[in-house]
Amino acid sequence: MMKIICVCGARPNFMKIAPLMKEFNACKQIEAILVHTGQHYDNHMSHLFFEQLNIPTPDINLEVGSGSHAIQTAEVMRRFEPILLEHKPDYVLVVGDVNSTIACGLVAVKLGVKLIHVEAGLRSFDRSMPEEINRLLTDSISDLMFVTEQSGVDNLMREGVNPEKIHLVGNLMIDTLMANRDKAAESNILTMLGLERKKYATVTLHRPSNVDNRDNLERIFNALDIIQKDMKIVFPMHPRTKTNLNTFGLQAQIIAMQNMLLLEPVGYLEFLKLTDNAAFMITDSGGIQEETTILGIPCMTLRGNTERPVTIYEGTNQLVKLTIENIVGAYNELKSKNFEVIGRMPLFWDGHAAERIVEVILNKHVIT
Ligand code: UD1
Ligand code: UDP
Repeated sequence: MMKIICVCGARPNFMKIAPLMKEFNACKQIEAILVHTGQHYDNHMSHLFFEQLNIPTPDINLEVGSGSHAIQTAEVMRRFEPILLEHKPDYVLVVGDVNSTIACGLVAVKLGVKLIHVEAGLRSFDRSMPEEINRLLTDSISDLMFVTEQSGVDNLMREGVNPEKIHLVGNLMIDTLMANRDKAAESNILTMLGLERKKYATVTLHRPSNVDNRDNLERIFNALDIIQKDMKIVFPMHPRTKTNLNTFGLQAQIIAMQNMLLLEPVGYLEFLKLTDNAAFMITDSGGIQEETTILGIPCMTLRGNTERPVTIYEGTNQLVKLTIENIVGAYNELKSKNFEVIGRMPLFWDGHAAERIVEVILNKHVIT
């Protein structure tokens, strides 16, 4: 029996861990132990996803909560080490690029436990992004790497990683999307919010470069103000953004926007329904760039780069730089095309990534 400790901590981790836990639990050769670091902890940032996505209750919750990068990372490490010493797993599996990912990865390798990284190889080439540092460091200590798109394979090869460690398997985010699309269609969130299909846009923002900087956040809000005069906007607001809105004194401006629906973060099913029926999205989320590609929804990503270039080359995503002219210009351009864009499905984004991952783990020995 192979023992794997699987780690999740923040919202985008839950969609990735859900299909994996299902596959692991169906596999007789694998014992999977689920550790939640507690990086995200509000009901609507954490527990709700366990309920909606049928993720087993974590065996262990480290309850680290929020803090500076150093405090949060250190606290996860401090609390994760005794878990490994007690359970002595064969592998630790981490997903994505959040602080919990690198923290648990570091603890594992220092104790001589093999590390599996799911969503390896993605690079924005922007080292001012905390996630880019987490990605580079996690990949550099991983024994087995599962990659969502060819660019990730190319990046790892260029960095000199042994090709036997690298496996292009597709995208767990899309496994979850495909498994839940029908269920999400039953959500009554559009009716509740008085929204009509394709007559509104959905917005999410949480990248520090956009929301921790007053000028940038104000610039985005000014652009949203212009857009909402033409089309309704629904904006489930990330707690980081909400905090900054208050700190910067920008609440009054956004509350005054008549066609702007501000919400707390919503559950996965409700959000999928909001995405699937939107005319277009405005976001800086990693996962949403991928989901809109599969749903065929135009996505304006308010960033200067993306670690997920396949969503641009094959999908429905475009990068939009942070000026009012660029954001409103991109909106007008989409409007002139009646919000119709054509994309295609990237290789292996077919709902079967978790099966491929389990097959590789069972069939291949980890290369050291
Ligand atoms: C984290 C990840 C980011 C990911 C995002 C997904 C890192 C470095 N960043 O960013 O890569 O895209 O999650 O959403 O790991 N807060 C709450 N309730 C919660 C969680 C957080 O109120 O349940 C507030 C706290 O004030 C906290 C702030 O949000 O300080 C930021 O949380 P944190 O996990 O540090 O970073 P995120 O911006 O969420
Ligand atoms: N999401 C959600 N509710 C929301 C906003 C987003 O369920 O109110 C989902 C979204 O569909 C995607 C994931 O959260 O599956 C993306 O997480 P996030 O944007 O927080 O992180 P990132 O992908 O940028 O790391």
